[in-house]
Amino acid sequence: MTDLTTNYLGLKLKNPVVAGSCGLTGSLVKIRELADAGVGAVVLKSLFEEQIEADLKSNLEVYQTDYPEAYDYIKEYTRDSAVSDYLDLISDAKKDLDIPVIASLNCVTAAEWTSFAKRIAKAGADALEINISLLPSDPRKSCSDYEQIYFDVVNKVTDGLAIPITLKMSSYSSSLASLVSRLFWTGKVGGFVLFNRYYRPDIDIDSLSLTSAGVLSEPAEISTPLRWVALLSGMVEADFAASTGVHDGAAAVKLILAGARTVQTVSALYRNGAGQATKIISDLETWMQNHSFTGIEQFRGRLSYSFGSDQSAFERIQFMKHYAGIV
Ligand SMILES: Cc1cc2nc3c(=O)[nH]c(=O)nc-3n(C[C@H](O)[C@H](O)[C@H](O)COP(=O)(O)O)c2cc1C
Repeated sequence: MTDLTTNYLGLKLKNPVVAGSCGLTGSLVKIRELADAGVGAVVLKSLFEEQIEADLKSNLEVYQTDYPEAYDYIKEYTRDSAVSDYLDLISDAKKDLDIPVIASLNCVTAAEWTSFAKRIAKAGADALEINISLLPSDPRKSCSDYEQIYFDVVNKVTDGLAIPITLKMSSYSSSLASLVSRLFWTGKVGGFVLFNRYYRPDIDIDSLSLTSAGVLSEPAEISTPLRWVALLSGMVEADFAASTGVHDGAAAVKLILAGARTVQTVSALYRNGAGQATKIISDLETWMQNHSFTGIEQFRGRLSYSFGSDQSAFERIQFMKHYAGIV
């Protein structure tokens, strides 16, 4: 018998295929569809710090007031209403589903509202994924200025928090191996999601205007998480989840061979519907049977940095060998 169960953040998942955080995980109806399709866990759509700040700004404009007490009230009210909708989604999902529900916070700073993490835990979330959205584009800020934000958020969110946390990382980090290692050494972070996929700008050369490149990923994009999951899972004992470019069973197999405990999929669900999750899971199972593996741990990490015979493959960044042969 093929056993697809895996452990992630101390949770037992029936299989490693997770519906990643997105609009499809923002309503109970759609989450139920994903659960029925067989996903091992679901990461809810994020509660966005920026959204709460924007709601606060517009409420302050609507209820213009000079009274500091009224200001405080509006501030509390705005935050509370956004958060309470989210808490309802968590508790409804927990009541309705028999798979782990991972809540998600999207932070840009270590602002005070991160204390809502405790309420998220109380609502029943099994774990918390924190997406720290940073683009280190300010020339006046050093690498350590940006890195400090991760530590500030982790310290703030985990203070008194009873559920495990995982950090959804940006690939725009100047020394990712060092950053991930130091975050793990705090003892407060159980895992890392590699990687968040940012909005991608493009330029329309006819109208000479800025546009957006594809919102959904392409399968070839797994090469970035593949490299980093393989490198980091071989160095750090944390639980790694791979995100970006997981469209089929082969991608799931590759990332697990690289060391991922779970793979998150989003774009493939938007493109093909929840049934694509079922297909990824069954293709993973078929591949295991064809290779006589009865459990995930028998092959997980086989080609990670620490295990593989050709470790340099993941550190290679030049195509010299290939270029040399091209005339
Ligand atoms: C429409 C859409 C909405 C998303 N919303 C969120 C979100 O709320 N929080 C988050 O952390 N990531 C969000 N993401 C990013 C995905 O979780 C995922 O990291 C990214 O799409 C890469 O995975 P994929 O290649 O499987 O699509 C969103 C992605 C899409 C396409």
